[in-house]
Amino acid sequence: MSRLKILTEHIDKPEITGIEGYIKHGGYRAVEKALKKMQPDEVTEEVKKSGLRGRGGAGFPTGMKWSFIFKGNDKPRYLLCNADESEPGTFKDRLLMEKIPHLLIEGMIASSFALGVKTAYIYIRGEYMYILHILQKAIDEAYAKGYLGENILGTTYSLDLHVHPGGGAYICGEETALIESLEGKRGNPRIKPPFPAVEGLWGCPTIVNNVETICKVPFIINEGGETYANIGIGASTGTKLISACGNINKPGVYEIELGVPVEEFIYSDEYCGGIKGGKQLKALVPGGSSVPILPNRLITKTAKGEPRLMSYESLSDGGFPTGSMLGSGGFIVFDEDQCIVRNTWNFSRFYHHESCGQCSPCREGTGWMEKILHRMEYGHGRMEDIDLLWDVQRKIEGNTICPFGDASAWPVAAAIRHFRDEFEWHVLHPAEATRRNYGMGRSAEPIEQVTA
Ligand SMILES: Cc1cc2nc3c(=O)[nH]c(=O)nc-3n(C[C@H](O)[C@H](O)[C@H](O)COP(=O)(O)O)c2cc1C
Ligand code: SF4
Repeated sequence: MSRLKILTEHIDKPEITGIEGYIKHGGYRAVEKALKKMQPDEVTEEVKKSGLRGRGGAGFPTGMKWSFIFKGNDKPRYLLCNADESEPGTFKDRLLMEKIPHLLIEGMIASSFALGVKTAYIYIRGEYMYILHILQKAIDEAYAKGYLGENILGTTYSLDLHVHPGGGAYICGEETALIESLEGKRGNPRIKPPFPAVEGLWGCPTIVNNVETICKVPFIINEGGETYANIGIGASTGTKLISACGNINKPGVYEIELGVPVEEFIYSDEYCGGIKGGKQLKALVPGGSSVPILPNRLITKTAKGEPRLMSYESLSDGGFPTGSMLGSGGFIVFDEDQCIVRNTWNFSRFYHHESCGQCSPCREGTGWMEKILHRMEYGHGRMEDIDLLWDVQRKIEGNTICPFGDASAWPVAAAIRHFRDEFEWHVLHPAEATRRNYGMGRSAEPIEQVTA
């Protein structure tokens, strides 16, 4: 069955990477329309009508965010595209930037016009250096064709667009850390308020949006906000890119219409193609490493017994005790052989490594969680460690400058909530816990005798 594709309809056509191919398939019509036929506020109105929500993870309404941009001073305004994409399990933005870079550039031009921005930046993950070159080539083509620079398409609107490599740290994806990093400093998050829309880059009003969010803007301008709002389900309008990985037959990036049942997404041939080796589904992380893990019984059905859908609301149904989050769409599937303790340790190790260290609950707590999980995984756990772990994550959540602290706590909380028996098994069967081959690749590290 062929479904509506807003971003990826032409993505497999090789010529779409270049500006001529992009224009041949209808590209840059939105820039023509916005700059020649619309006022900046009208563009924002259409985005508001569309119900588009930010695709970077939090799902905040984009039109509303744009309307917060401070217009009460004559400072320059900035639009920053967040292309840092470092959340484990999330690899969707790279597809757009690599295969159809002009879509992002067109979205940046139209969005900058709406916001009254004269200089915009794409802040791209440092490890995506080869994509930076693809983007730079596309930006050069857009300048040569008159879509960027002075008096775009003969109008009074001018825009400069730069692409900038990131600092190589996960925290640089947090919007205020991204701003610090772009200013040439260490990527430490700032305390909010002031919010970037009032005081962002170099103290000027700034909007930070995800790649996928900005790539949706051309469609909304061409087809109208209402058309976009009619796609999807309820307040989860439009389509979403999902990067699917783990124990599935067909890992990859899929564009789905929001509202597709999770069961269909996992098992249909159109998407993930079912669990590898015909094994049982054990658990799911639906939105990237920072969102709570769901156990088998809550994956395809909500706690109310309704089909679980791929939407912001359905995935979070019942709050964290029975739900999770759509997040950034990093969909990680675990089969019956996967070890939850090992996976939780793996995530904790990542968060400990990536904490910027400004807040003690995050700096100390992530390290503590990693140590406890490590000793459990390697056969040195104690029963009281499970409650200790619970206590540590509780003390991080809500007590830090930025949401990284919560992001490090939620996977641990959900793993204990839903898989406590597995933690207990590790304590009761230390030899087996160390010997077992979990299928996730055994670590060559020596068994560490952690006593803290
Ligand atoms: C630790 C951390 C890492 C983040 N990484 C990214 C990222 O790589 N890409 C992204 O778009 N948003 C990321 N975000 C969310 C951004 O702070 C911000 O909310 C987002 O870029 C806003 O764009 P949107 O409204 O289009 O979603 C991250 C947030 C946190 C706390
Ligand atoms: S929560 Fe962690 S990552 Fe965020 S500012 Fe505090 S120490 Fe840094």
